[in-house]
Amino acid sequence: MSNEVIIKDAVKRYGDFTALNGVSLNIKEGEFFTLLGPSGCGKTTLLRMIAGFNSIEAGDFYFGEKRINDVAAHKRDIGMVFQNYAIFPHLTVKENVAYGLKARKTPKKEMDERVAEALKLVQIEHLADRKPNELSGGQQQRVALARAFVIEPSVLLMDEPLSNLDAKLRVQMRTVIKKLQRRLGITTIYVTHDQEEALAISDRIAVMKDGNIMQIGTPNEIYAKPQNPFVAGFIGVSNFLDCDVDGSKVTIQGELSLEIPVQKEFTGKGKLSARPEQLFFSETGMPGHVLFSTFLGDFIEYEVELDNGQSLIVNEYTKDTASVHEDGKRVHLSFDPNRVSLYVAETGEVLSK
Ligand SMILES: Nc1ncnc2c1ncn2[C@@H]1O[C@H](COP(=O)(O)OP(=O)(O)O)[C@@H](O)[C@H]1O
Ligand SMILES: [Mg+2]
Repeated sequence: MSNEVIIKDAVKRYGDFTALNGVSLNIKEGEFFTLLGPSGCGKTTLLRMIAGFNSIEAGDFYFGEKRINDVAAHKRDIGMVFQNYAIFPHLTVKENVAYGLKARKTPKKEMDERVAEALKLVQIEHLADRKPNELSGGQQQRVALARAFVIEPSVLLMDEPLSNLDAKLRVQMRTVIKKLQRRLGITTIYVTHDQEEALAISDRIAVMKDGNIMQIGTPNEIYAKPQNPFVAGFIGVSNFLDCDVDGSKVTIQGELSLEIPVQKEFTGKGKLSARPEQLFFSETGMPGHVLFSTFLGDFIEYEVELDNGQSLIVNEYTKDTASVHEDGKRVHLSFDPNRVSLYVAETGEVLSK
């Protein structure tokens, strides 16, 4: 009974502050969809509108064919998981998970079966009779997850569910959540400010900034083809280089000239974005010297200072290289023109294909 979620031109205002500025999304049935962006960009606001906890100033919200703008929150058939778990301290694990089924007057036998199955899916069946204060943070979050999906909601909403966990557990739990979502096929809308988590867990991501959507795409699309400098800078690491653009010819500091495949003709000041793994040491190119290197096992991360004073991050994979470049070594940097992104400096409009 999973559902697609369609949002058309959603606007949210708090007084005269516009928190969402006409947001449209088309989330497919069974999809794991993430709202990603810095703190304050409107992620929680949008999730709460979908849940029915926030008023909607303009726009249309649909679950499948059904417009839900005026449907009360408790009738929207959603499951929710929050950052602070919100599980009931006075109820046992089993009772917490049963809560939503009880409220729906599910027959006792069916309820017991479904609770047992949910606990098994999140691997806490052995903790069924404990109280929340007898559980670790990760176990409490598993209870919150089980409680959300046991009611078989048509949409599952999660707002930064892992942010109270330590780094190692966060990585473990995101895999638990992703596998569970795959298995159950519930349309899921997930909120995080953590770009690495979003890349790891999502089928698709909407990158948000100041109440606007900056790009929607698969993790690979968003990483490989950021559509504006904000996305390039927010997702992963990007080196930005000022350049002169003349059609497909791009010149950096008058030193390095390359042909970049463009989708649009432009002449003037450009901004180029290159990932650390897209830059490489070469015989010719942008001159500079190694400032610092960090050996990270599978790759070496270099900080290179160009002769114009700008610092760049360059990753070299240890499988491709025999030695570590010494600090202070004179080098030249180049890049594969087919993989970098090119923008108009002033507007941020994307030029590269
Ligand atoms: N109840 C509220 N009243 C006034 N402003 C709010 C309220 N809730 C959120 N905001 C503002 O709306 C913006 C978006 O908030 P929020 O959706 O919580 O961001 P995020 O979840 O992306 O961190 C922020 O600037 C926040 O201060
Ligand atoms: Mg939030």
